[in-house]
Amino acid sequence: MNSVSDSYDVIVIGAGPGGYVCAIRAAQLGFRTACVEASETLGGTCLNVGCIPSKALLESSHHYHKAGHEFSEHGIKLDRLSIDVPQMLKRKEAVVSSITDGVAGLFKKNKVKWLKGHGSIAGPGLVTVTSKDGKNETFAGKHVVIATGSIPIQIPPAKFDHKQIVDSTDALSFKAVPEELLVVGGGVIGLELGSVWLRLGSKVTVIEAQNKILGATDAGVSREMLKILKKQGMNIQLSTMLESTEIVDGKVKMTCKQKDQSVEFQGDKALIAVGRRPLTDQVGLEKVGIKADSRGFIEVDKHYKTSVDGFYAIGDTIHGPMLAHKAEEEGIALAEMLAGKAGHVNYEAIASVVYTWPELASIGLTEEECKEQGIPFKTGKFYFKANGRAKAMNETQGFVKCLAHKESDRLLGVHIIGPTASELAAEAALAFEYGASAEDIARSVHAHPTLAEAMKEAALDVDKRAIHS
Ligand code: NAI
Repeated sequence: MNSVSDSYDVIVIGAGPGGYVCAIRAAQLGFRTACVEASETLGGTCLNVGCIPSKALLESSHHYHKAGHEFSEHGIKLDRLSIDVPQMLKRKEAVVSSITDGVAGLFKKNKVKWLKGHGSIAGPGLVTVTSKDGKNETFAGKHVVIATGSIPIQIPPAKFDHKQIVDSTDALSFKAVPEELLVVGGGVIGLELGSVWLRLGSKVTVIEAQNKILGATDAGVSREMLKILKKQGMNIQLSTMLESTEIVDGKVKMTCKQKDQSVEFQGDKALIAVGRRPLTDQVGLEKVGIKADSRGFIEVDKHYKTSVDGFYAIGDTIHGPMLAHKAEEEGIALAEMLAGKAGHVNYEAIASVVYTWPELASIGLTEEECKEQGIPFKTGKFYFKANGRAKAMNETQGFVKCLAHKESDRLLGVHIIGPTASELAAEAALAFEYGASAEDIARSVHAHPTLAEAMKEAALDVDKRAIHS
């Protein structure tokens, strides 16, 4: 029997957006709370090697692209434009540190104890923490929350060597711009990181198995994004399945199947971005018999309770979109439910965003889903090229597409391709939370001139009464 070093009301394993937010909320609610994290910094994939560093590089590369391609149109002349990749990476690291340090500060402020080391279940209500130097300590937790996140999927035809065949973490730290970059997977990560290196000068080829990019995205929206990215110079090969990879003369050579033909692509590096899998095989689920499916997703009920009393799971370890904001909301809802409150996550109102430029943000149902589910709907669309602010910004690509119920007018889906679509989607999320109709948005006063007016016009267009188109 392990001797117990300390006891907590709540022990959260993993300090990603799901785990650290859950721990803070639990502490706010008066629980004695600890959070186990093995990394040197808090924040998990999102803050350290995911959302935040990728957005930092997307921002830097966007500035570089604009300076090289768009400044002259604004009457700004630059003679000798160059990039300093090490400085770009240094800034990215500084952004990451300031945010991860911030989480450590929040833990102190809220009296969440950071148990440094690898956490694994030792028995009912028990968690063992193994520190870097191999020392084990066991803690008792009345409630134990598994929030260990996910890792990139490795596929047999392209095993990571982390030098030339890389995952998303590696692709955030290339020391120099690869001349030719292969990207396997035309999903969120492939297109975001592909965009970073494309803007910095790489020749980027995306190899995508399906006949569209961005999987479940509304088909019309996916088509528009494909057109835009191709125009930017991204070579996107659809219906192309990777079969094998070899390194020949220092280059990555990929053999793929494309419509019954064998095709080859070559690059200096290859980013494999074919999805992520839950990281649940090293947390000791078997010690207490917590059930997970064949892919490692932990089974939970609507209160995030696993099959074993006292153990809960949230975020990427359970089913649903692998999104930081989904994990955060689950962390908050769980802490509130443990405190006897009515924690709740509205899964209908979770925006998914692709931080390409223009950005893509989607919330609610796609047109295809409405059809599949037999929901009668009407569509409104408004193009940014007819929006004054977008014109002033010289950012006229894309549109807002609103889907509303044909009879009740209730909003069913909002899909935006455009400048700052990620920010514009917040209005749609609020509208969904309030069960708004398209008319509710159409009748709300939107400041002029703003990009958000495109949302109002798309809502007006649902009943074919847009003013500016
Ligand atoms: P993904 O599931 O978005 O896309 C993977 C793509 O790879 C799919 O289109 C699939 O058809 C393709 N694929 C799979 N095997 C293939 C093969 N052998 N050959 C060619 N193509 C193949 O996965 P991704 O981009 O790795 O992202 C993982 C998760 O991370 C996603 O669930 C996403 O939600 C999340 N994420 C979210 C971000 C955001 O919210 N902006 C940013 C980054 C990640």
